[in-house]
Amino acid sequence: MLLALMRQINVAIIGGGTVGGGVYKALRQNGRLLASRLGVQLSVTRVVVRDLRKSRAVSIPKGKLTTDWKSVVEDERNHIIVELVGGVTLARQMVRKALRAGKLVVTANKALLSEHGEELFELARKHHTNLYYEASVAGGIPIIKVLREGLVGNRINYLYGILNGTCNYILTRMEKEGSDFQGVLEDAQHLGYAEAEPSLDVDGFDAMHKAGLLGSLAHGFWIPPDQIHVEGIRKITPLDIQFANQLGYTIKLLATIRPTPKKGVQISVCPTLIPLQHVLAGVRDVFNAVYIGGDVVGETLYYGRGAGQDATASAVVSDLADAALDLQQAHGSRLPAFVSHVENGSVFPWSETIAPFYLRLHVVDRPGTMARITAILAEARIGISSIIQPEGHEGDAVPLILMVHDAQIQAMQQAVKRICRLKVVHGAPQVIRVENFEF
Ligand code: NAP
Ligand code: HSE
Repeated sequence: MLLALMRQINVAIIGGGTVGGGVYKALRQNGRLLASRLGVQLSVTRVVVRDLRKSRAVSIPKGKLTTDWKSVVEDERNHIIVELVGGVTLARQMVRKALRAGKLVVTANKALLSEHGEELFELARKHHTNLYYEASVAGGIPIIKVLREGLVGNRINYLYGILNGTCNYILTRMEKEGSDFQGVLEDAQHLGYAEAEPSLDVDGFDAMHKAGLLGSLAHGFWIPPDQIHVEGIRKITPLDIQFANQLGYTIKLLATIRPTPKKGVQISVCPTLIPLQHVLAGVRDVFNAVYIGGDVVGETLYYGRGAGQDATASAVVSDLADAALDLQQAHGSRLPAFVSHVENGSVFPWSETIAPFYLRLHVVDRPGTMARITAILAEARIGISSIIQPEGHEGDAVPLILMVHDAQIQAMQQAVKRICRLKVVHGAPQVIRVENFEF
């Protein structure tokens, strides 16, 4: 096939929900603009859905809708297959079948890539095709391009990311309104930000999938999800956010990716106190941001909507443009999807990570309580940087907040365990990592 002579490239979209509908709408809106920029027309031939009778916010002509994904993938007239179904099992079958047929594949599915990316990238290579995934991380921010292309000449000294729009939206509303978690999650679902299974968002797994992809690209070896420490935001209360504010911090679900001198790359996703004056503290609502330090470029920051129909569609369309240009050049003008180039890459053990911490306890307000707690911390050689015991709390126990200096996580966990055995300490402790961005 003389691809360079093609005037029209046929695109089949599997999934016509939030993102699939958004891609269809964006191509309808800006198709001509794109054609004039690319020199080729992208034409959507089919949109595969589960339920043909469902009413859809973005109207798609009935003649384009189908439930038969296999024949769409097999149809030789479709040059690019876009997987926007979500989940892992069926999506994997779809992507594998498309790659084996030599089709170019675009996906926004970070769960699929995190779990099976290595296999799928290899399959793409074997079948002389390509797999594009710009929309899988940080919504509308072209962060995959940043790492693969823009910063290709840098060693990445640090990468911090607010990578889940739903969690950032929830934490922002909790901070602004003191709202509780569940009600705000329902709003995020209505706005099309949350995953079909929202525990992927609020338990941190979605951000973990994204962090794995960024970490792999940044450090040149594949980082599977089971090597990434993850904590979600369910445990964060409006009270913690209030105390954090009093101490000069806010709370974000933060992905941290930092190489250590000897023992591999630190990689984690967890709620983190960050200073109010840091640029990431101003990233609110559904916005995401990625803050990267490269050894040549220095400090850089990328900001944009992290979830939702239009932002995600914009990233999918940019992949379609790359795929269309690749097709015209007969596959091969661009970098492959992922290049593994570090042989003995490893992940730093989470328990050995050293950081400052926020510790909230519920304690009986009587003489000697503080002395017992501080004695345990002192024995563990953990220094305290500040303490708040707010007035006006009723009941047997009152909150006590301690900010501690750098401590190894393992030592901190052991000390907190001992503290919680004290009779004057009630209920579960809250331990949250603090990041001061001191390099
Ligand atoms: P969604 O709204 O639930 O849409 C899923 C689509 O897949 C629906 O059109 C559904 O059909 C179709 N589908 C499901 N099972 C199918 C099957 N067995 N056969 C054929 N079609 C099937 O999900 P979404 O929010 O668009 O997310 C899609 C992907 O994008 C996910 O991987 C997600 O992680 C990723 N993503 C989402 C966002 C976001 O902000 N939402 C952002 C970045 C990445 P029906 O419409 O008939 O139910
Ligand atoms: N549910 C995801 C989020 C969608 O809220 O960030 C974007 O990947």
